[in-house]
Amino acid sequence: MENSSGNVYKLRLMGDEHLDLVLGWRNHPEVRRYMYTQHLISMEEHQAWFKRACADDAKCLLIFEKLGKPIGFLNFSLQGKGRVADWGFYMDPDHQKGDGRHLGLEGLRYGFDNLKLHKICGQALEYNNASIGFHEYLGFVQEGCLRSHAFDGKEYNSVICFGLLAEEWASDKVKV
Ligand SMILES: CC(C)(COP(=O)(O)OP(=O)(O)OC[C@H]1O[C@@H](n2cnc3c(N)ncnc32)[C@H](O)[C@@H]1OP(=O)(O)O)[C@@H](O)C(=O)NCCC(=O)NCCS
Repeated sequence: MENSSGNVYKLRLMGDEHLDLVLGWRNHPEVRRYMYTQHLISMEEHQAWFKRACADDAKCLLIFEKLGKPIGFLNFSLQGKGRVADWGFYMDPDHQKGDGRHLGLEGLRYGFDNLKLHKICGQALEYNNASIGFHEYLGFVQEGCLRSHAFDGKEYNSVICFGLLAEEWASDKVKV
């Protein structure tokens, strides 16, 4: 199926060949400061995470490409049996500003069209203005705030919870 961006942007399943690249992105200070776990991840820990995720039917790990070049990571994690999934993502920290929106748009398309999700949920740390703005831009509804919820080893931060239903997405609330 041709996508809205004329196939410039594409999501594909993550493979062993992406391990080095994804670990480099995940460990970058401008990515890990926005994650729940913020320590430097070793290749051993990374490989174990990848192996576990590949063996888990509830998880889907994807690489986001621009003209065939990997520039981001996105994952879905099914919660329970109702086709409700959490998503998480990060771009290559050196990505061209503005490519992030296509990661989001392709991610929604993949989640709702390919995985037939009923709902996609996102969570952002309260100081992650880019992710909060990004979810709002994509049409997500803010559904709650987990107050003083995520401990980073020094302090607690609140977590902003977002949700988007398949019918909201289909009714063209998201501007492409
Ligand atoms: C979140 C992320 C994918 C966004 O990518 P990006 O390239 O900045 O996104 P874009 O520039 O395409 O922005 C798309 C929209 O998101 C919103 N947005 C992006 N950066 C923003 C910021 N700093 N503040 C508020 N809103 C922002 C805007 O609505 C923007 O649309 P606009 O440019 O027309 O105003 C990227 O910043 C990233 O990888 N961050 C680190 C990892 C991370 O935080 N992951 C999410 C964990 S919950």
